[in-house]
Amino acid sequence: MAVDYDPFSDSVMSDPFPAYREMRAEGCPHYIESRRAWALTRFSDVWKASLDESALDYTHGQTPGQLLLGEPCPTTFMTMNVPDHRRWRAFLTPFYSQEAIDTEAPRIRALVSKILQPLLSSGKFDVYRDFANRVMCHNVGHDLGFTEEQSEEFRALIDDMQHRERGQVGGGSQRNQAAAGTLFGALAAHVANLRRNPTLVVRQTKALIDAEVDGRRLSDQELTFYLFSLLVTGSETTPLSVACTIYLLAQHPDQKAQVLADQSLIPAAYRETLRLYQPTNMLARRARRDFSLSGKEIKTGDNLLFVYASANRDEERFTDAEQFDIHRDGPRDLTFGIGGHVCLGANLAPVAGRIMLEELLAGVGDYALVEAECETAYGEFLLGFTRVPIRFHRKDPAQDDFGRDRMGD
Ligand code: HEM
Repeated sequence: MAVDYDPFSDSVMSDPFPAYREMRAEGCPHYIESRRAWALTRFSDVWKASLDESALDYTHGQTPGQLLLGEPCPTTFMTMNVPDHRRWRAFLTPFYSQEAIDTEAPRIRALVSKILQPLLSSGKFDVYRDFANRVMCHNVGHDLGFTEEQSEEFRALIDDMQHRERGQVGGGSQRNQAAAGTLFGALAAHVANLRRNPTLVVRQTKALIDAEVDGRRLSDQELTFYLFSLLVTGSETTPLSVACTIYLLAQHPDQKAQVLADQSLIPAAYRETLRLYQPTNMLARRARRDFSLSGKEIKTGDNLLFVYASANRDEERFTDAEQFDIHRDGPRDLTFGIGGHVCLGANLAPVAGRIMLEELLAGVGDYALVEAECETAYGEFLLGFTRVPIRFHRKDPAQDDFGRDRMGD
């Protein structure tokens, strides 16, 4: 029997993995008649299609809502094809090289510590809401020149934009729309402020304001769209996966004990969480020409869902693919994609995630989940945990589980 898959169905938005398993078993891209879309769920299909960039059109957006429901699509380098994509993206890449991120690491650690320290005395906090989500929104706020208050306000608005009621198809609810309107208005005001006060123009905002291609610079509206896109991508997925790591370790006490005893296992634990719960879940592209993939004929104009979360669990690629194993020594996964549109934050997220987990585990030591209060992301787009409350006994702040005073980068 054909797999009944719709990315917007309640069962899939609650837990997409059973449907992904069934579609992988079909062995080829799965056609979703009602959406005129192909779901690419196998590792080899996502990999191959991502590298065939001349066959892909990014200009209609990247989210399932933009491609399949026609939701508005802010134009940035992310929604451009080659060669424009490369030319505009190039203004931002220096900020996200491994070297640049390593230079930023001490500042990120100080930010993490500032947000974590007040939480430690309570004996209970929510890893996503109180900690990781705040760290990443303050981090992107630093890059884009927001005040701390703006960073927190903007992140709350994004959470409201992403919120889905049970069974809600797409982001058209009153709550989603009101948040989007407020956020775009605030970002447009920020751009106007930057134009009026050149001394406020720093880092990424300076690179974008100075950017020029063929004598053309970004308009105020385009700058607003760039800020919006960097704000969302820079703050959304990393916190979901940090909270998820804490959740999964608690579900695997033997592996948690090993990580608590040896901090050098933290990067592997985070990487394995990203493989198992790839937080972007999927991104969408449109076919720019006819091509075939695993025996299926893709036609110009067809929508394509690149389901990274499924590709990362492909049993043809990974041994015991659905198991959480921090000692996995397997082949590379598709967590950050591949090809010309590969994640701009692919160096930032592992460093920020590692630092958050190092500081958190050093600060709280062993912990227990408040399981009844944990929540996963619900919707067509994101995967991971949006609520992971933990309880712990306050540790002596002078000593941590790793026998260090403070770690350096
Ligand atoms: C664990 C966290 C993250 C994951 C799993 C993730 C994953 C992804 C994936 C799968 C893509 C599409 C890649 C492709 O088309 O091949 C992407 C694109 C992108 N990501 Fe990330 N991302 C993460 C964090 C970040 C961060 C922190 C930033 C901050 C700069 C960021 C910025 C972007 C941007 C700007 C794009 C679009 C790139 C383009 O179209 O050229 N991401 N990300």
